[in-house]
Amino acid sequence: MTQSQRCNRKRTHSPLIALFFLVFIVCSILYNELSIQRIHQDSHHDHQEAPVRYIQPNLFDRKSEVLDRFSKCNATREYSGWKIGWADPRVKSGRRRVGSERCDVFSGKWVFDNASYPLYNESQCPYMSDQLACHKHGRSDVRYQYWRWQPHNCNLKRWNATEMWEKLRGKRLMFVGDSLNRGQWISMLCLLQSVIPENKRSITPNAQLTIFRAEEYNATVEFLWAPLLVESNSDDPVNHRLDERIICPDSVLKHSSQWEQADILVFNSYLWWRQGPVKLLWSSEENGVCEELDGLGAMELAMSAWADWVASKLNPLKKRVFFVTMSPTHLWSREWQPGSEGNCYNEKIPIDLEGYWGSGSDLPTMRMVDKVLSKLGSKVTVLNITQLSEYRKDGHPSIYRKFWETLKPQQLSNPPSYSDCIHWCLPGVPDVSGVQIAYGITADVGVSGRFQLLVLLLSYNSGY
Ligand SMILES: *[C@@H]1O[C@H](CO)[C@@H](O)[C@H](O)[C@H]1NC(C)=O
Ligand SMILES: *[C@@H]1O[C@H](CO)[C@@H](O)[C@H](O)[C@H]1NC(C)=O
Ligand SMILES: *[C@@H]1O[C@H](CO)[C@@H](O)[C@H](O)[C@H]1NC(C)=O
Ligand SMILES: *[C@@H]1O[C@H](CO)[C@@H](O)[C@H](O)[C@H]1NC(C)=O
Ligand SMILES: *[C@@H]1O[C@H](CO)[C@@H](O)[C@H](O)[C@H]1NC(C)=O
Ligand SMILES: *[C@@H]1O[C@H](CO)[C@@H](O)[C@H](O)[C@H]1NC(C)=O
Repeated sequence: MTQSQRCNRKRTHSPLIALFFLVFIVCSILYNELSIQRIHQDSHHDHQEAPVRYIQPNLFDRKSEVLDRFSKCNATREYSGWKIGWADPRVKSGRRRVGSERCDVFSGKWVFDNASYPLYNESQCPYMSDQLACHKHGRSDVRYQYWRWQPHNCNLKRWNATEMWEKLRGKRLMFVGDSLNRGQWISMLCLLQSVIPENKRSITPNAQLTIFRAEEYNATVEFLWAPLLVESNSDDPVNHRLDERIICPDSVLKHSSQWEQADILVFNSYLWWRQGPVKLLWSSEENGVCEELDGLGAMELAMSAWADWVASKLNPLKKRVFFVTMSPTHLWSREWQPGSEGNCYNEKIPIDLEGYWGSGSDLPTMRMVDKVLSKLGSKVTVLNITQLSEYRKDGHPSIYRKFWETLKPQQLSNPPSYSDCIHWCLPGVPDVSGVQIAYGITADVGVSGRFQLLVLLLSYNSGY
C-alpha cells in the first residue's frame, strides 16, 4: 500500500497525556543537549565533504499517503547531501526591523512595573491554557507578571487592544509552529479579547488549525500546529510521534495550503529539532526509504523549504511575515548560579546580567536561522525574542501548571524533577512579543514603503 504501516498500538487515551509526553520528551532532549551539540558539530563537518546536490521544494505532488504518527520508513540510509535549492528572493537587502534604526527594541532590560503590568488578568482570559495558568495552579508569587520590557533607546507604546483590532480589521492573523508559538497565540488572544463582547467572539475546537473570530472586526486570530514547518509525521496537534520523526524536507505544500490565505503570519520552530536524528523522506523517493540527518541539518532543510515559499509566493505589499527566534529554556540553574543543582523551579526574579546567554539557546542554530532569514531580507520581520527571554528564568510554569499524567511520589518529593522550564506563564514573557507584533503590523499591510516606515517610526516614542 503505502509507507504508512498501521501498527495497532494502543491509542493514546487522552490528548493531555500526549502533551505531557511532549514536555517530558523535550525535557529529556534538552538534558542530552551537550551530546547533541557534539553531534551537530561532527555532522557539520561531514556535510562539507558530501557532494552538494540541490532539490527544488514543492515541485512534486507526492502520490503516497500523507504522513501520520503511524508512518514508518521502510529503510534508512545515510544522508546523501541533498539540499533545498530555493528561489532567489531578489529583494532589496536589509532587514525589516521592528523599531527604528536608532532603536533595537530587542535590546533592553526588564523593569519591575506593577502599575501598568500585567496587561490582562489570568483568570479573566477565557482562552487561557491550563499549561500556562501558573497562578491558578498554585504559584503564589506573582511577581513574574509585573515585569515590563524596556528597550535601551526608546519606549514601547502602551498596549491598546482597540487599536490592534483596527489594524486587524478584515484580516487573518495566523500563528504557525509548536507549543511555544501556541503560547504566543494564547497571549495574543488574552491581550485582545477583553474589548470584544462575549456574543461577538467565537473559537473553533482545538484542531490542527484553531480559529478565534471577532465578528465586529471581521478578523481572525488563528493557530496552526506545524512544529517542523514542513510536512511531517508530527502534524497532529495531539497524537504525534516523537521517537521516529519523519519530515518531507521538500514539502511545505500541505501546510502552506492552510496558511497561504492569511494576511499576517507569525512562524516559529526550534525545540522540535533539538532531538536528532530526524528522518528525511524526499518526495522523489518511491520506496519509503528515508535518509537520516541530525536535527540542525534537518532544520536547515525545513527552513529552506519554508524560505522558498516566502521568497516565491509572498507579496510583501499584501502580506506580512514574522519569524520568532528560538525560545530559551532554563534547565540548569548552575548556568546563572554556579554551584547550584536545580533548574527554573523556585526562581522568582529575572537574571540581571546584561547579555546573559544559557545553553538552552543553541548558537549554531541561531547562526543558521540568521543566514536563512537574512537572505529573505525585508520579506520577513524577525521577532528576536531570544535575548529578552534568556533573562526570564522566573517566567516558566515549573510545577505550577496542569500535568496530564499522575505524578509519582518520588517526583512530588523532588519538584525540579518535573518542572516545566520550557513554556511561559501567562500573563508573562510572551505578552511582550505580542506587543511587538502589534507594532510590526503598524507598518501597515498593503501600503507602500515610505508610508510603512513613517507609521513604524511613529509607533515609538524614540529618542531616549
Ligand atoms: C507595587 O510594588 C510596590 C513595591 O513592591 C508596593 O509597595 C506597591 O504596593 C505595589 N503596588 C501595587 C498596585 O501592587
Ligand atoms: C483578576 O480577576 C479576579 C476575578 O475577577 C479578581 O479576584 C482578581 O482580583 C483580579 N486580579 C487582578 C490583579 O486584577
Ligand atoms: C486606545 O485606542 C483607541 C482608538 O485609537 C482610543 O479611542 C482609546 O482611547 C485608546 N485607549 C487607551 C487606554 O489609550
Ligand atoms: C471579511 O474578511 C474577509 C477576508 O478575511 C473578506 O474576504 C470579506 O469580504 C470580509 N467581509 C466583510 C463583510 O467585510
Ligand atoms: C514499503 O515496503 C512495502 C513492502 O516492501 C511496500 O509494499 C511499500 O510500498 C513500501 N512503502 C513505500 C512508501 O513505498
Ligand atoms: C538575534 O539576536 C541575537 C543577539 O541577541 C543576535 O546574535 C542574532 O543574530 C539575532 N538573530 C536574528 C535572526 O536577527
